[in-house]
Amino acid sequence: MFALGFGVTAVESILDSVALAQKKKRVRAAPAGEAFRVEPFSEQTPYEQWMAKEGVPIHTGYYIRDVRALELKPWPRLGARAALIDLQGAEGTDGAYVFELAPGARTAPQRYLFEEGLYILEGEGETAVWHDEGNKQTFRWQKGSLFSPPLNVWRQHFNRGRTPARLLSVNDAPLVLDLFHSADFVFNNDFVFRDRYNNEPDFFSLNPSKLRSGGTAATFGEGERGAANIWDTGFIPDIHRLELYEARSRGLRNKSLEMVLSDNAMQVHVSEFEVGTYKRAHRHGPGSHVLVLGGVGYSLMWTDVTRYSEAPRQVRVDWTEGSLFVPPDRWFHQHFNAGPTPAKYMATTWIGGKYFVKALGGGGRTHRLNTVSTKRGGNMIDYPDEDPAVRAIFEEELKKKGVKIGMP
Ligand SMILES: [Fe+2]
Repeated sequence: MFALGFGVTAVESILDSVALAQKKKRVRAAPAGEAFRVEPFSEQTPYEQWMAKEGVPIHTGYYIRDVRALELKPWPRLGARAALIDLQGAEGTDGAYVFELAPGARTAPQRYLFEEGLYILEGEGETAVWHDEGNKQTFRWQKGSLFSPPLNVWRQHFNRGRTPARLLSVNDAPLVLDLFHSADFVFNNDFVFRDRYNNEPDFFSLNPSKLRSGGTAATFGEGERGAANIWDTGFIPDIHRLELYEARSRGLRNKSLEMVLSDNAMQVHVSEFEVGTYKRAHRHGPGSHVLVLGGVGYSLMWTDVTRYSEAPRQVRVDWTEGSLFVPPDRWFHQHFNAGPTPAKYMATTWIGGKYFVKALGGGGRTHRLNTVSTKRGGNMIDYPDEDPAVRAIFEEELKKKGVKIGMP
């Protein structure tokens, strides 16, 4: 029975001392508890089951035309009107929700064991975070701010403006709820991740000490090691004011920037491309939530083969500010700026930045081979190798809008 070589007496004495310690500590009252229980042997994942019980709209499909216009309903858990977003390409890795606070309104305090990046779509306000009530930190945000309450800290959001505030969370709740299938564990957990956040006074500020030079694990295979700069911080006051860096491997006159928020495994990057240009097509694992921050254009997503027009499945996403889409697992995808201004998006993915994870695509091999040509076993289609149909569609789109092509 005691294969590890414990004597019976030794085990008993360990148990005795545990019991004593518990008595001494006076076990604290159990929290209210989560009523939700996962149905086993179901075709629905624990996360899908959980979503269905939350009582808010669940928006699905390949993309959302404008997250700012989504139908919301009161979400008792959050104390605000909200909607869940469960896009096809997330494939159970990460998910999203959007919520709105009326002027003067606040959310209920929340804490949970999944990471989230929050982007302010509209409005202005303030967030308080704390491990313990006596040690709260608050920071102000506005449209264009991006931040992450560190894992499992309490958080409460306040609208401090005169107009509604709308926030988008991209988070890894699907993965966490599916693995642990216990809402109590995820939403009523006392563990404090002091290694991530220990009340550092400058945690939610941006200063040069937080700009790290050199790529992250996800980019080391791309021959760009040392070239990238990464913000490693809890809060970005305005994503539009960050300096972007040229990323030639991603596309003509493409600029990008990586960010890791609050020591998360999740990672964010911003990409901007000039008028009349488009990025190279590439593919990787699931879960990169692409939120369009500005500009007008479209993205093509397709399966199996390098030629879009010959692909068994094709999806076209026409986008503008507020559009959200997720290229599905290993689908090729290509982003086109079809408007008269530069186009910019922010992509949040469940793994791939500060901490290298090799699981299903997110930050592992497929992302590493992002910028290696398909001809060399990678996942990027070089411009000369692309389907001529892709260029024809682009030229047609530009003609419609009277924009001059900027591609050679
Ligand atoms: Fe991508």
